[in-house]
Amino acid sequence: MNVTINGERLLQRLDELAEIGAIVGPAGDRGSARLALTAEDGLGRDLVVKWMHDLGLEVSIDGVGNVIAAMPHASGLPPVMTGSHIDTVATGGRFDGNLGVLAGLEVIESVMSAGLDLPRPLAVGFFTDEEGARFAPDMLGSLVYVGGMTVEEALDIRAVDGARFGDELEAIGYAGGAPCPGPAPHAFIELHIEQGPVLEAEDIQIGAVTGVQGISWTKVTLRGQSNHAGTTPMSMRKDPAAALFEIGAELHRIVDRVGAPQVGTIGRVELIPNLVNVVPASATFTVDVRNTNDETLVSVEREVDELIHQVADHHGLSVETETLARFAPVLFDDRVVEIVERSATVRGRSVRRMPSGAGHDAQMMARVCPSAMVFTPSVRGVSHNPAELTDEDDLVAGCQVLCDVMLELSATTFEGAK
Ligand code: GLV
Ligand code: MN
Ligand code: MN
Repeated sequence: MNVTINGERLLQRLDELAEIGAIVGPAGDRGSARLALTAEDGLGRDLVVKWMHDLGLEVSIDGVGNVIAAMPHASGLPPVMTGSHIDTVATGGRFDGNLGVLAGLEVIESVMSAGLDLPRPLAVGFFTDEEGARFAPDMLGSLVYVGGMTVEEALDIRAVDGARFGDELEAIGYAGGAPCPGPAPHAFIELHIEQGPVLEAEDIQIGAVTGVQGISWTKVTLRGQSNHAGTTPMSMRKDPAAALFEIGAELHRIVDRVGAPQVGTIGRVELIPNLVNVVPASATFTVDVRNTNDETLVSVEREVDELIHQVADHHGLSVETETLARFAPVLFDDRVVEIVERSATVRGRSVRRMPSGAGHDAQMMARVCPSAMVFTPSVRGVSHNPAELTDEDDLVAGCQVLCDVMLELSATTFEGAK
């Protein structure tokens, strides 16, 4: 079975979707801001769902707004599914998530136009709130799809702006009736940009993704005594900002000492009242730590927690912590990874195996069916930034490899599928 995808059509759809919630970065780069369940997310969804209907796909929407579109198929067999997400961070690029969804649509359109009679149908979906930037945890929609969280729990989650997930979902018209957890596909394969520098640095065109590193997100609130910045002697302060900066510096020392692939980030900070001449009353911040090895990640989490309490104690502050997300490392199905490697090689593309540093919906789908991912290079490794870029040739090649993998998966019977 051999189908050639239409690269022009893929690129055109990527451009069209990127215009919804379009933003311009400081260097003039054009990105997108479609935070989950905002009006912009709703408009992006409407466009992609229209494209799904135009192709005559069977579209279902579940109770957390995950949208799955399947080829009509007489067999009634579970589909080979692909997909990703179309929500973005507030400083999003044009490709993170969008590539996987629109490439899936492109594969299905090309396969249907070729009139192929596949052993199993193909399906493409987009999952709600993969980014977790507005509602934590990340990969929320796919987590619910595989039964890792109930619909009711998800609907009650509060956004960083205070809005309730269920209310926002209703407001954009995507509270659907399809059952959740959803049916397990035959297999799941997700195309995504790497979002890191490895493929470009090694001049490799395709990543065959072997798994996703463990992710731990914690929200920390330190409370002290708000006071006058001029009159309060340094020795008499209870200053949450001073503690936060010590914690930030020490977090980096811990991560450096543990060494790669350990990473650690303080990505969100809120000082109250956030005024030039006021010692803050509170500092709220997030800690994101990740590692491919769960034991190491657990020990880093413990060390960071001790650090936070020690520094807070020293400054006379109270501490509150809340786990926003905690996902163990995931290993993908080697049989699917092998198909990715082989498909890239057959198309004359250089390929290497690699873990993913970012979280992805495929890591949730791996709980219910054989799964893996295809990576394309990211120029300068930049992502979650309007400057995010992947060369057109790499976008099209990634989509072609996705197509080849899906066709092979459609004809593959997995013995003892997990
Ligand atoms: C999700 O995109 C994450 O890895 O933070
Ligand atoms: Mn993504
Ligand atoms: Mn992302």
